[in-house]
Amino acid sequence: MRTLFLAGNWKMNPNSHAAAAELAQAVKVGVGQASDVRVAVCPPAVYLSQIDAVLEGSPVGMGAQNMHWEDEGAFTGELSGSMLIDVGCTHVILGHSERRHGLGESDSMINRKLAAALRARLIPIVCIGETREEREEDRTEDVVAGQLQGSLAGLSAEQMTGVVLAYEPVWAIGTGLTATPQQAQDVHAFIRDRLSDTFDRATANRVVVQYGGSVKPSNIAELLVRPDIDGALIGGASLKADDFLAMIRSARDLATKKG
Ligand code: 13P
Repeated sequence: MRTLFLAGNWKMNPNSHAAAAELAQAVKVGVGQASDVRVAVCPPAVYLSQIDAVLEGSPVGMGAQNMHWEDEGAFTGELSGSMLIDVGCTHVILGHSERRHGLGESDSMINRKLAAALRARLIPIVCIGETREEREEDRTEDVVAGQLQGSLAGLSAEQMTGVVLAYEPVWAIGTGLTATPQQAQDVHAFIRDRLSDTFDRATANRVVVQYGGSVKPSNIAELLVRPDIDGALIGGASLKADDFLAMIRSARDLATKKG
């Protein structure tokens, strides 16, 4: 069985290290020692060291929002996998749509970052998803299949089981528009079928696939209850500790029922 995994992508928020520490502390206290669901927070890189100290002794993981594909060298403004490990990261988000579409990140760049993340022993959360235009043109499956093929190229089945995928339809991010649970489930099942074709069914069944895009306390349960939705990558609603903790409680209720 796959363990539900909720991650908060704080993006370029909050505006001060004090507010970031306060948020992380509230998540730590709210989660306690619970291990029936996996939880991580992904703060801006400048806060990582401090948040690592706040989270000490907690099962809450910490992810960076990006990294470079090289291990060191003359790459101004970039961060390597070993640096992220050194400040306490357990995870790293790769290929978020705000980087793909806003900053021109390609599947081949994401593929190189993925290899570097695995070398550094970070758990990668690889984001994929179609734009509104692509969905309207009925190209969702083609786009998602292409992103999977390009981003995951060269991975062994064993490596694949250590990668988390996040299906985030671009039109649902920060818009208040959520994919319906059925729309999300359909794409998640398609992703798992593609993984089965590329690797094998047992591997596909072990990969955690999160959904992301306007997830909030009022809609998370109906998403997580679907068979191929294994968690959520949460933006805006992860910035309010009460909302993030409410979503974790929903996931825990479901984990208990499923278990
Ligand atoms: P929102 O939850 O704010 O829509 O953001 C989703 C997201 O992009 C998470 O990575």
